[in-house]
Amino acid sequence: MPKLVINGGKPLNGAVKVSGRKNSAVAVIPATLLVDGSSTLENLPRIEDVNVYLGILRALGAAVDSTSADGITVDPAGLDCGRVPFDLVKRLRASYYLLGALLARFGRAEVALPGGCDLGPRPIDQHLKGFRALGAKVTLERGTVKVRASRLVGAPVYFDIVSVGATVNVMLAATLAEGTTIIENAAKEPHIVDLANFLNAAGARVRGAGTDIIKITGVKSLRGCNHAIIPDEIEAATLLMAGVGTGGDVTVENVIPKHLDPITAKLRESGAFVEENGEWVRAVGEGRPRPANLKTMPYPGYPTDAMPPMTALLSIAGGTSLVSEGIWDNRFKHADELKKMGADIRVEGRTAVIEGVEHLEGAPVEAKDLRAGAALLVAGAMAEGETEIYGVEHLDRGYERTEEKFRALGAEIRRAE
Ligand code: EPU
Repeated sequence: MPKLVINGGKPLNGAVKVSGRKNSAVAVIPATLLVDGSSTLENLPRIEDVNVYLGILRALGAAVDSTSADGITVDPAGLDCGRVPFDLVKRLRASYYLLGALLARFGRAEVALPGGCDLGPRPIDQHLKGFRALGAKVTLERGTVKVRASRLVGAPVYFDIVSVGATVNVMLAATLAEGTTIIENAAKEPHIVDLANFLNAAGARVRGAGTDIIKITGVKSLRGCNHAIIPDEIEAATLLMAGVGTGGDVTVENVIPKHLDPITAKLRESGAFVEENGEWVRAVGEGRPRPANLKTMPYPGYPTDAMPPMTALLSIAGGTSLVSEGIWDNRFKHADELKKMGADIRVEGRTAVIEGVEHLEGAPVEAKDLRAGAALLVAGAMAEGETEIYGVEHLDRGYERTEEKFRALGAEIRRAE
């Protein structure tokens, strides 16, 4: 079993380049299937979720060229929607974007209900409601979602809750539909804007992405284009928090500082010195962190994906912090692991009460999901002594060259069997 071994307790210092955003990449990759011709994606993170998605595209018959240093090229000319590979689809939550993409392209799709992190119930009723609104027939048979439409026609779609996935899926389905789709109560995350930018560069007519009303006027076809994926603000947050928690001085480069606003605001509140300039953000840990309260919310609120590493940071704050999870039922799997390292955390439902302790101590711990793994990375860097993180495969799904980046900041970290 691979593990990461960190010898913590040393300040992390230096600058590190942040990779492309996972949750943007996994939306834009299936969008390339809508295009006639080849699209080139730059700044794609080299993470397991992207590898799996590209594997799915290859299995579907698309030509994927990942040999150029300038980006990955996808040409869907040989696509066959009947070949959705069950084993790969099950490994990736975002494989359900194939429903929207293949429905738009072929008028039908069959995709097994997806895998991904177990964060509690993850219904997709809003996705299906959107497909139905556009005229698709939706059925669920033996764990497989089947969607079918002789023609897709634009329509108003009102989401009952704000959902990133449902917004992406309806955008994909509506891009080649006849007429206009108006999504109300849409998700506003920057990766929604990134997807819209890719689609528009390919000739789509998507307006309003980044607001809660998105208007998509269907076009007959899309053409190949080049697109660079936006930077990953959650990776940036993890690196900054590790820097602050170790009393260090870390700069993340290749970021869009605006996207990090909810995170940098919280870091400032917890006593860090933060500055930013164009494409970088620097955070300096100034003594023991101050306690802070936070509640996770859809963008522009504090992101749920950056909550676990912040919990790790607050576990050594000089006082009590209250962390409330507003999106998922089961996102505190890191708490029990942090407790093994000496943290004092009480979880009640979707809320954690964190009594800050002076320091954490290294211990063997297990990453039970991706962001829980990020919390353990931050904790391991802060803790005195050796931390062994098991469940590294979760981290590898969403973090690129983790050890290399932490090592560049001076961390003593290695991968071992
Ligand atoms: N929801 C429904 N019905 C739906 C869809 C969602 O009730 O049809 C509920 C969910 O149960 C949840 C809330 O709505 O309570 C928000 O879910 P959303 O659909 O926004 O989440 P998602 O699209 O499944 C994406 C990210 C997650 C991130 C959330 C929230 C991807 C591939 N995943 O998930 O990222 O936590 O948005 O920002 O984009 C991660 O990267 O670690 C991760 C889990």
